[in-house]
Amino acid sequence: MQLCIALDLPSQEENLKLLESLVGLPVWIKVGLRSYIRDGKEFLGRIRQIDPRFELFLDLKLHDIPNTMGDAAEEIASLGVGMFTLHASSGGEAMREVAARLARFPKRPLAFAVTALTSFGEEGFREIYNASLESKALDMAMLAAQNGMDGVVCSVFESQRIKSYVAQDFLTLTPGIRPFGEPSGDQKRVADLHEAKSASSDFIVVGRPVYKHPRPREAVEKILEGIA
Ligand code: C5P
Repeated sequence: MQLCIALDLPSQEENLKLLESLVGLPVWIKVGLRSYIRDGKEFLGRIRQIDPRFELFLDLKLHDIPNTMGDAAEEIASLGVGMFTLHASSGGEAMREVAARLARFPKRPLAFAVTALTSFGEEGFREIYNASLESKALDMAMLAAQNGMDGVVCSVFESQRIKSYVAQDFLTLTPGIRPFGEPSGDQKRVADLHEAKSASSDFIVVGRPVYKHPRPREAVEKILEGIA
């Protein structure tokens, strides 16, 4: 299991300060829409300057027509990041196009498909998809796997079911982690390290329990010990 730290602080300076405290630790750094829109690809360069060993995860959740998705995936691969996200609901053809474009790169990033956004409740999900969240999420995971995606973003509580349904080596990336039972904040279904391990989660994403900790490096070291 590998650890991704979500860079969700409100300014670039605060994000960079957090990173400086984490130099040398084997972690992935998750850059999301907010900081990418504000700070651009130069920000990725700054992260690398702080520690070139940090692995970069660009969480932009692409959703568009196949050709535009393919173009965007190529641009993302050119940035040299290690993984990125897109929406499975962009469809099988779009995901196939992304997989084909990525195959042109000798060292390509891992592509993760979002099945159902964790902010959806059953009712809100049905309004759009006219289906139950659980069964549709499994179908979308299967569609993602069949069309060349490396894994899905899902909650810890779906990770094992998705692997059993799709394939044990199909990767799962799970946010909503409260490593040692920290406050859940706005996350509805949180899991601790033990639960994430039992669910065979491949990547866990942790934000607030690290960046709100008075000593973030200590928090990360403790998580790394817990997943070793
Ligand atoms: O602070 P916290 O640990 O809850 O942060 C979780 C991170 O994972 C945030 O960056 C959030 O946007 C992201 N995320 C999520 N649920 C998803 C996809 C991404 O919480 N389904």
